[in-house]
Amino acid sequence: MDPQLTPSLSSRFDIKAVTELGEARQLVFGDLSDCFNPFLPRFVREALLGGGEVWVSREDSVVDGLLLYNVIERVGSIFTRDARVARRLFDVKAAGAFFSEFSLSTKTEIYPVFAVEPTEGADTHPFAHPVRMARRSEQPAIIRMLNEMYGPIDTRWLQIASREEERCFVVDVAGEIAGVGWVSVVGAHGRLHSLSVRPHYRRIGIGTDLWHARVLWAQKAGGRRVISEISELNVASLAIARAGGMRRIGQQFLSHNSAGGPIPVSPLGSPAERADLVGHVD
Ligand SMILES: CC(C)(COP(=O)(O)OP(=O)(O)OC[C@H]1O[C@@H](n2cnc3c(N)ncnc32)[C@H](O)[C@@H]1OP(=O)(O)O)[C@@H](O)C(=O)NCCC(=O)NCCS
Repeated sequence: MDPQLTPSLSSRFDIKAVTELGEARQLVFGDLSDCFNPFLPRFVREALLGGGEVWVSREDSVVDGLLLYNVIERVGSIFTRDARVARRLFDVKAAGAFFSEFSLSTKTEIYPVFAVEPTEGADTHPFAHPVRMARRSEQPAIIRMLNEMYGPIDTRWLQIASREEERCFVVDVAGEIAGVGWVSVVGAHGRLHSLSVRPHYRRIGIGTDLWHARVLWAQKAGGRRVISEISELNVASLAIARAGGMRRIGQQFLSHNSAGGPIPVSPLGSPAERADLVGHVD
């Protein structure tokens, strides 16, 4: 436990770490977010399985605040309706950058949340590139691509992404994976994330094709609304989302605490561990 989480703070706001999946399954979530409520149990599960930290604030045994924290990248997400709870959860970790519906520091970046309600047969996008689901055996290649693009980032979440609820789509060009993107569906709620196109394959429509393929899959998987968080500085991704008919339904702030921003460290583990990666489908 971080030293700054004092007993008095803990009892006033009842902030505790959750470390076991069994305990996580018992959590009763209140209404914590306009956009993310349906995804929270899944986020918690993935955080625990992926080596991350989960902290909850409770009021009358109902979770009124949730902090998920990636210890490697030092990036977290805070979900709560209460600004005081958000502030307390922000203070739990000494270093990092935290997504929240509240602005928690003077140094923030805004991530609007976009949504679209796909309807069957309505998307007539003319694909410029064949889009396919990634094969499980391609995870090392995908991780290599992400590391080439972003440097050493934490890709452990790839290992535990649920095959039922998450799909990875790719586009190949000249025998290599040129672009990749994920989509998850929980009930009627879909979410796009981690769209990435290698720099030398950009501006030829791969990102757009991956957007449409994922929304189509989400719709067929039962998604009635598909969301995506995009930095307001990300001109390309915003253009793709807007062209697809997404509209802004909310926003997240990425707030950096006083100790500074995230410091990515290589998380990839041994080659044997990489070979065992699961979560993709053929
Ligand atoms: C965002 C990203 C996936 C876009 O991929 P892409 O394959 O280049 O996208 P597309 O070719 O389909 O571009 C679609 C439209 O986006 C806009 N766009 C793309 N790149 C742009 C740029 N650098 N500047 C301005 N507009 C841009 C254009 O309107 C473009 O259409 P046009 O080329 O016909 O004008 C890619 O830039 C990328 O991987 N960026 C780094 C990772 C990232 O930001 N991911 C998104 C996280 S939400």
